[in-house]
Amino acid sequence: LRLFSGSANLQLSQEVARYLGMDLGPMIRKRFADGELYVQIQESIRGCDVYLIQPCCNPVNDNLMELLIMIDACRRASARQVTAVIPYYGYARADRKTAGRESITAKLIANLITEAGANRVLAMDLHSAQIQGYFDIPLDHVYGSPVLLDYLTSKKLEDLVVVSPDTGGVARARAFAKKLNDAPLAIIDKRRQAHNVAEVLNVIGDVKGKTAVLVDDMIDTGGTITEGAKLLREEGARQVYACATHAVFSPPAIERLSSGLFEEVIVTNTIPMLGADTSMESLRKRFP
Ligand code: R5P
Repeated sequence: LRLFSGSANLQLSQEVARYLGMDLGPMIRKRFADGELYVQIQESIRGCDVYLIQPCCNPVNDNLMELLIMIDACRRASARQVTAVIPYYGYARADRKTAGRESITAKLIANLITEAGANRVLAMDLHSAQIQGYFDIPLDHVYGSPVLLDYLTSKKLEDLVVVSPDTGGVARARAFAKKLNDAPLAIIDKRRQAHNVAEVLNVIGDVKGKTAVLVDDMIDTGGTITEGAKLLREEGARQVYACATHAVFSPPAIERLSSGLFEEVIVTNTIPMLGADTSMESLRKRFP
């Protein structure tokens, strides 16, 4: 078994390697003058089971391309089996057509990963469960909820209500509530006027005087979760916690999340906190 890391979240890969008691395999990554990427595995992987860890977070296109190149390199190096470990699946929200003449980009990404030569995929908290079906190779879908729930349970919060910030997240929030001693559920009726712009309309359920835990798969610009928190406060919630697996944190998420609406914002490390930084300085650090 061999483990390699892309450049998207080296810290997470190192933690995984430490946990497994193994080293990350040696690999060269370079960026050419015109922006093209280069990857070379630095040891023989012939006949090996290879695991490649690469969340497709910001800069999503570069990280995705790097993953595809790594998969191709492994396949051409005669690895026995190549598993793409994708803690954050970029483009997951483009999982269906919502208007004519759009792409279903989440399906396109599945095609690219399969075509590159992956035999198996391990993904975490996919935006929608049907993405699993976009692959004709096995996909293990794992969840961040056990970690998030452990942390929440350790806080011994009382009078909880679990809140889904939109109707699409109800199943996720219901599963969460079940694990929190069957806490009651509330749902926010969110309507979007434009991409990345959340507009909150109504809360369904009783949140007055309660500690509300908003649960989502990801926080991107923070619009959904902060608009939800504002509404919960208006409806009389005593405290508001936000929980999400993927901290995408595109600007102005940090400003929004620091606005004093939340007791705590609880996320996992599928995406490094630098994930939203696409400055040239940050990109140069990642691809010297
Ligand atoms: C949407 O359906 C997702 O589950 C998230 O609620 C959304 O993508 C978060 O985006 P933002 O933080 O930009 O509102």
